[in-house]
Amino acid sequence: MAYNIDLSGRIAFVTGASSGLGAQFARTLARAGAGVVLASRRIEKLKELRARIEGEGGDAHVVELDVTDHDSIKAAVAHAETEMGSIDILVNNSGVSTTQRLQDVAPEDYDYVFDTNVKGAFFVAQEVGKRMLARSQGAAPGSFTGGRIINVASMAGLKVLPQIGVYCMSKAAVVHMTRAMAMEWGRFGINTNAVCPGYIDTEINHHHWNTEQGKKLMAMLPRKRVGQPQDLDALIVMLASDQSHFINGAIIAADDGFAV
Ligand SMILES: NC(=O)c1ccc[n+]([C@@H]2O[C@H](COP(=O)([O-])OP(=O)(O)OC[C@H]3O[C@@H](n4cnc5c(N)ncnc54)[C@H](OP(=O)(O)O)[C@@H]3O)[C@@H](O)[C@H]2O)c1
Repeated sequence: MAYNIDLSGRIAFVTGASSGLGAQFARTLARAGAGVVLASRRIEKLKELRARIEGEGGDAHVVELDVTDHDSIKAAVAHAETEMGSIDILVNNSGVSTTQRLQDVAPEDYDYVFDTNVKGAFFVAQEVGKRMLARSQGAAPGSFTGGRIINVASMAGLKVLPQIGVYCMSKAAVVHMTRAMAMEWGRFGINTNAVCPGYIDTEINHHHWNTEQGKKLMAMLPRKRVGQPQDLDALIVMLASDQSHFINGAIIAADDGFAV
C-alpha cells in the first residue's frame, strides 16, 4: 500500500506565491488536497497561478499582500479567512535579496531586506498565529493539533556567503524566529519549522547561472548543480501535514549537502 499524505479540508496561506518557490509550494499543496490562498503584490501573476491550479482540479483564492505594510498583512489574512475559512497552514515564503559587499550597504538596502524577510515574515506569522491560538483555546484541551507554520529561511541562515551578508543575517533571524515560535506556541498545537533551501533556480537568482560568476559558483557546489522548485515538494507537504505533529522547531536544510 502506498504511503499517502492527504491535505483535503486544510487551508494553506502561501506568501510570495507569484513566482519561484511560493508558486510551486502553492501548486503542490493544492495537489495534496489543500485549499490555497495565493498572497503577494503581483496580483496578475497570482491570478494566472489560480487558473493553473483550478485547471488541475484544485481550489485557490487570490489575495493582495505587501508584507512590509502591517495593515496589508491584517487585511490579507482577514480576507483569506472570510473567503476560504480558518488558515491551518502558513507558508511564510516572501523574501528579497541584494548582492553587495558589507561596506557598500546603505540603510535603505538593509531596511529593504530586513523589512521583508524578518519584520514582514514575523508579522505575517503573528497574524496567522494569533488566529491559530484563538482556535486552540476554543478547542477541548490538547485536541487542537492543526496549526502548521513553515518559515522559508535559507542555507544562508546557517552559513555565511560572500556579498549577500545582510541576506544571510536576515535568514539567520528567521531561523531563530522559528525556534521562538516553536517554543511559545508548540504547547497550543501549533508546529513551527523552517526550511533552508540551497540554491534553487528561480526569479531571485535565474539571471546569475549563466554569468561567469554563476558558473564558478555552480562548479563549487557538492554535486555541481542547482535545484528546481519541485525538489522541495515532499518536504513542504510533510511539514504541512498532520503526520508531522512531532516535528516542531526543526531547521531543515534542503541544499544538496552544501551547508555541511
Ligand atoms: N531560490 C533560492 O535559491 C532560494 C534559496 C534559499 C531561500 N530562498 C527563499 O525562498 C523564498 C522564495 O524565493 P524565490 O527563490 O522563489 O524568489 P522569487 O521568485 O523572487 O520570489 C520571491 C517572492 O517574494 C514575494 N515578495 C517580495 N517582496 C514582497 C512583499 N513586500 N510583500 C509580499 N510578497 C513579497 C514576491 O512576490 P511579489 O513580487 O508578487 O510581491 C515573490 O513571489 C524567499 O524567502 C527566498 O529568500 C530562495
